[in-house]
Amino acid sequence: MKLSELLAGQEHHVLQGDPARTWITAGTTFDADRVMPGSLFIAVPGHREGGPDSVAPALACGAAAVLVGAATPALAASVWASAPEVCVVRVPDTRTAAAVVASRYFGEPGRQMDMVAITGTNGKTSVSYMVESVLRISEGAKVGVIGTAGSRIGDELIPMPRSVLTTPESPDLQYLLGCMRDRGVGSAVLEATSMALLTHRVDRTFIDVGVFTNLTQDHLDDHGTMANYRDAKLRLFQGLCRRAVVNADDPVGAGIQAMMPGAVTTYALDAEADYRATDLSVDASGTRFILHHDGRKYPAAIPVPGRFSVANALATVAACHLLGHDLGRLVAALDRMPAIPGRFERFQTPRGTSVIVDYAHSPDSLDKVLTTIRDFARGQVITVFGCGGDRDTTKRTDMGRIAGTHSDLCVLTSDNPRNEDPQAILDQIAPGIAATGTPFERFTDRRQAVAFALSAAGQDDIVLIAGKGSEPHQIIGDKLLPFSDMATVLELTRA
Ligand SMILES: Nc1ncnc2c1ncn2[C@@H]1O[C@H](COP(=O)(O)OP(=O)(O)OP(=O)(O)O)[C@@H](O)[C@H]1O
Ligand SMILES: [Mg+2]
Repeated sequence: MKLSELLAGQEHHVLQGDPARTWITAGTTFDADRVMPGSLFIAVPGHREGGPDSVAPALACGAAAVLVGAATPALAASVWASAPEVCVVRVPDTRTAAAVVASRYFGEPGRQMDMVAITGTNGKTSVSYMVESVLRISEGAKVGVIGTAGSRIGDELIPMPRSVLTTPESPDLQYLLGCMRDRGVGSAVLEATSMALLTHRVDRTFIDVGVFTNLTQDHLDDHGTMANYRDAKLRLFQGLCRRAVVNADDPVGAGIQAMMPGAVTTYALDAEADYRATDLSVDASGTRFILHHDGRKYPAAIPVPGRFSVANALATVAACHLLGHDLGRLVAALDRMPAIPGRFERFQTPRGTSVIVDYAHSPDSLDKVLTTIRDFARGQVITVFGCGGDRDTTKRTDMGRIAGTHSDLCVLTSDNPRNEDPQAILDQIAPGIAATGTPFERFTDRRQAVAFALSAAGQDDIVLIAGKGSEPHQIIGDKLLPFSDMATVLELTRA
């Protein structure tokens, strides 16, 4: 495609060359080391593998054109002047322009599929898997999923040159959507993180239904205040989606209704809402409830315990119903959903201990998972957990208090300490547990912590291993060391 077509209608200023004579044939990228002859290199300030300082290597790799932002240092001009055949264009904001250009390059794939995007502190991955499962089970639909666990169509992962973020940067995201469309995907489900919304990664994905799950404390390291964090999430509902599905039990939900009058559908367990659940009955194997919509009642069941899982199921059903699918069939599919890796994933040890591996790594999710477990626990509850390093430190004592409040024994351990001293992280969590009076042990080595918890547990006890879910690594320093909670449990309990 010609660069002039990619930029049509967008404010831009040509610094060198002619966009109408510049063909982009090898995609768009922020990463200098992914530039090929025919690429459009977008020099996004602050981007780790690129930015204005990387214009020279991008040119050396054969970039056909370069987009720079308004604040690009004048020095860069001497760099591209040495390659007069390369077209250079300045745009007011590189990320906003990148989303437009990348989407057009791939033929605006979001317009050709049903698009669902989910935002909220907790539940994005869970709801995305649920949407995929119910559409597949009820309609035989081919669904694409983009999120924390990578991007896939069914069981097939779409390989990427390097590991990408939960919500990939717009060149990668649009590429993935293009792949999905080309392979006959009818519906794509996307996790929209607050940082992604803030940095325009989700622009031009043409979302049909945006889902808001909840807002509780997390990511204050990125956003500074809860108000900033909320505002970032709310961007999804400011022109990025046509319709919204909103949790009416969360106070932020009301703000979304004011932003999109007439286009908001609500779900709730407590508040009045378009989709409601009542008569919950929770046991270790799952939850039964009655779903209410439009004056009708639908008996429903999900193979996951907990009120939060019912909330996720309501969000799922409401979003898929808005896309035009049959409500009765959607509800019937809920009970046949497969387990979601690392989300309340269960295993019974030969000694009769139930082990639950869960991705809860924020105060609210830890609280939700532990109160759910308490609901059906017959024996002791032993919680193995930690807090990530180089991330929000303000939640650490609070998570200690929550774990202590709902457990009989806590085993404090490392959860991706990254560049922090693992002992220092545990030192910040420990006062929270100590304040509850619950006994605890500490092992910076996660395998030792799991082994200790399993050895302390007997028949009918429950060991919750929280924080990492299905992550296959422990990040220590800058190293990704292979580690899986569930694989460790299986290994330690093998007879
Ligand atoms: N609706 C919910 N409300 C509160 N907690 C939830 C909810 N759904 C799931 N959880 C808990 O939060 C954990 C993380 O869930 P999930 O992976 O779906 O969230 P996420 O929003 O994708 O998180 P991340 O931003 O880290 O990718 C789960 O393992 C579970 O403990
Ligand atoms: Mg996720």
